[in-house]
Formats: sequence, C-alpha cells, structure tokens
Amino acid sequence: MQSFELLSQKFTLHFDKTHLPATPASLYEPGEYFLKMGGKRIRPVLCLMGNELVDDIRPDAWHVATAIELFHNFTLIHDDIMDKAPLRRGFETLHAKYGENTAMLAGDVMLVTAYEHLNKIDSTYLHKILHLFNRTAKEVCEGQQTDMDFEKAQVVGFEDYLQMIGQKTSVLLAASLKMGTILGGAGERNQNLLFEFGKKLGLAFQVQDDYLDAFGDPGKFGKQVGGDILANKKTFLLIRAQESASAAGKKELQSLLKSDAPGKVEKVLQIFREAKVDAWALQLKNKFLNEALAHLEDIAVISKRKEPLKELAHFLVVREF
Ligand code: IPE
Ligand code: IPE
Ligand code: MG
Ligand code: MG
Ligand code: MG
Repeated sequence: MQSFELLSQKFTLHFDKTHLPATPASLYEPGEYFLKMGGKRIRPVLCLMGNELVDDIRPDAWHVATAIELFHNFTLIHDDIMDKAPLRRGFETLHAKYGENTAMLAGDVMLVTAYEHLNKIDSTYLHKILHLFNRTAKEVCEGQQTDMDFEKAQVVGFEDYLQMIGQKTSVLLAASLKMGTILGGAGERNQNLLFEFGKKLGLAFQVQDDYLDAFGDPGKFGKQVGGDILANKKTFLLIRAQESASAAGKKELQSLLKSDAPGKVEKVLQIFREAKVDAWALQLKNKFLNEALAHLEDIAVISKRKEPLKELAHFLVVREF
C-alpha cells in the first residue's frame, strides 16, 4: 500500500516529460507551459490507488492515470477562459499569457492527447474504460455549463448547487477511482462503492475549493482569491449567505450581485463572515467526508488496503491550495 505522497512522486516522475510535439511551437509551447505548472495530481493518483486497493498496480493504470491528468488539465485551461481567471497554480493562466484562441486549441490538443494514452491499454478493458471516460467527460461539460448558467441566476437552490458540483468536479474523482478498480479486477460491488466514495469526496473537495476561493491565503492558494465573487458564482457560501444573512445583509448582497464596483469582494466577504458561512463550510465538508468514508468502510477488502485513501480524503478537505 503506497501513500498519496509516494504515489504522487512516482506519478510526477512518470508524467513530467514532454507531452506535445515541438512544432508549431505557438500551439505546443503554451500547452507544455501549462502542464509544467504542476498541480496536486490528485486524480491520476486516485486511479493508481483504486487499482492498488485490490491488486498490484498494473502498467495500464499509468496510461489511464496519464490520460486522466491530461483531461483534467484540458478542463482547467477551458475553465480559466470561462471564469476569466488570471492565475492558476501560482502562474499566469494560459489564456492570460497566450490569448484565448491559443488556449482553446492547446486545451483541445491536450484532450486528444489524453485519448492517445487511453488507446494504449489492453483491449480487454478498453471498451469499459472508454465508456466511463466519455460519460464522465460529458458530465463535466454539463456541470460546467450549469455553473455558467448559475452566474446569471439571482438565486440558486442548494440542491441544484450540489448537482452542479457533482457533475463538474465529483464525477471525475469518482471515475478516476473506478477506472483504477476496473484495471485491478475488482468486482462490480466494490467498483460502485468506490465510485460513491469518490462522489462524496468530490463534493467535500469542491466545498473546500469554494471556501478557499473566498477565504484562502493568496500566498498559498495559487489562484485569484475572490474570483468566484467577481464572477457571481453561486457557491454554497453565497447560497447560505442569501438565506441566513441579516435583512440588511441580504439586501446589500442583492445589489452587490448587480455591481462591478471596486470593493465588491471585501463587501461580500464581510456579509459571508457575518452570516458565519465558514462554520457552515466546516459542517458541510465533514458531512460529505463522513458519507464518503462510510462507503469506503463498506468495500470488501481488508482495512489496511484502505488506509491511503482514508488519509488522502482527510487531507483534501483541509488543504490550503
Ligand atoms: C481544480 O482542481 C479544479 C476543481 C475541480 C476545483 P485541483 O485543485 O485538483 O487542481 P490542481 O490540478 O491541483 O491544480
Ligand atoms: C472547475 O471548478 C471544475 C472544472 C475545471 C471542471 P472551478 O472553476 O471552481 O475550479 P478552479 O477554482 O478554477 O480550479
Ligand atoms: Mg475556475
Ligand atoms: Mg469554473
Ligand atoms: Mg474554484
């Protein structure tokens, strides 16, 4: 059983090479620039851990993990365009540095490159992996569109928020784990339990992401703090504040949502603090973490094999970046 730390080191060694051709450099250099920014490499490691939960890691798991990380980076490049984000992993976003047109194409090429890695795996599970990969990719797009639609909505229900983050974020974490178990030869029941673990963990993960976007330490977070507030994202922080702020706070929030005036972020944060949304964040994360762990508990393998996943789950909800 290998820890997240060890597996992410191994994955980084495997992944940190040139992924794209040399020419045209105007297309491929930006792509390489983005991949070299690093990142936590959570999803590929989840795939490796899903495999190792039931068996030794197979060579094909490295191909699938590579495909997953490339796919994830593709989603981030396009997400940064959509969110008008200036910073990612402490560096300029790809579109900020090279323009939106190049960013779109660099993302597209990365997606195609992901499929080239999938195409290397043994044909006995290629069909199943591809089916899950494609279903996941479509769901991510659906979640991302809903996220954009919600920017324009005045009010979004909490259940709709959960559905949206489930699609844009959780399914990829869940599918990464499940692909690992498929390669490891797990039975259906264990595969599905691990998928459900990933779904709940993904909710806790996005809750933390949304929390850090508002309250993170700019020196550690690596992204623009307050970006979600500027984009009128309907995060649980906003949804909760709209419900539980004082009457004056609610009214101010409503007018702030229509404004681009300077000081917007600080004013919204003040309302968030008054409505004690940070306590709510903690409660939410713990609820989803516990639900995730209950699914992990139900998986029929000896508990020692589950340790790395448990440890990673706890880390993900307290991470600061
Ligand atoms: C960012 O994911 C996108 C979300 C789903 C919130 P990560 O926080 O895993 O990004 P990196 O790859 O570590 O930078
Ligand atoms: C993005 O959610 C999820 C995907 C990239 C699919 P966010 O927009 O919150 O992710 P960050 O905060 O930019 O990493
Ligand atoms: Mg974003
Ligand atoms: Mg986004
Ligand atoms: Mg975010």
